Amino acid sequence: MVTRENIVLVGFMGSGKSAVGRFVAKRLRFQFVDTDRLIVERAGLPIADIFAQHGEEHFRDLETSVLESLDGVQQSVIATGGGAVVMERNHAILKSLGYVVWLTASEDVIFDRVSRNDKRPLLQTENPRATISQLLATRRPLYESAADFSVDTTAFSHNAAADAVIAAAGRSFGWDTTP
Ligand code: S3P
Repeated sequence: MVTRENIVLVGFMGSGKSAVGRFVAKRLRFQFVDTDRLIVERAGLPIADIFAQHGEEHFRDLETSVLESLDGVQQSVIATGGGAVVMERNHAILKSLGYVVWLTASEDVIFDRVSRNDKRPLLQTENPRATISQLLATRRPLYESAADFSVDTTAFSHNAAADAVIAAAGRSFGWDTTP
């Protein structure tokens, strides 16, 4: 059961969580919270350095503890990292934080979007396209089980995706959206 009027965005790298999340927050006058940014602040290191110096497990621990620290936030849009659903322990936390929306996109679009920067340690492989494919195959069922609703951003502008997120959350929270 949803108890908090927060919107939690989950989805693969490049699915638009931060960009769409900012639009949603602006439109609803909600706070925008980015868990990757909180992890970086807490660690005092960029994500790539956390992975390189301390390993993925340490990053996942920080991620869980940042998610836990959000207990009590209200009227916020929370954009999570693409791997937030990987740890089973995070699923209950995500649900308790608010209405969880999974942003999806086709593999081609994801590849295109993530190719624009090299800051994602998990994609620093010989064949990032194949890595995306493998990670997506493993993670799709995890996003699906974590989320209350999904929005396909493949052919959507960030604004249109934000509309869809707000409409779904509004239905769930019982907001009166009649003009
Ligand atoms: C990760 C996604 C990244 C970041 C880290 C790990 C993942 O976030 O948390 O590099 O495991 O998919 P974005 O989805 O915002 O790129």
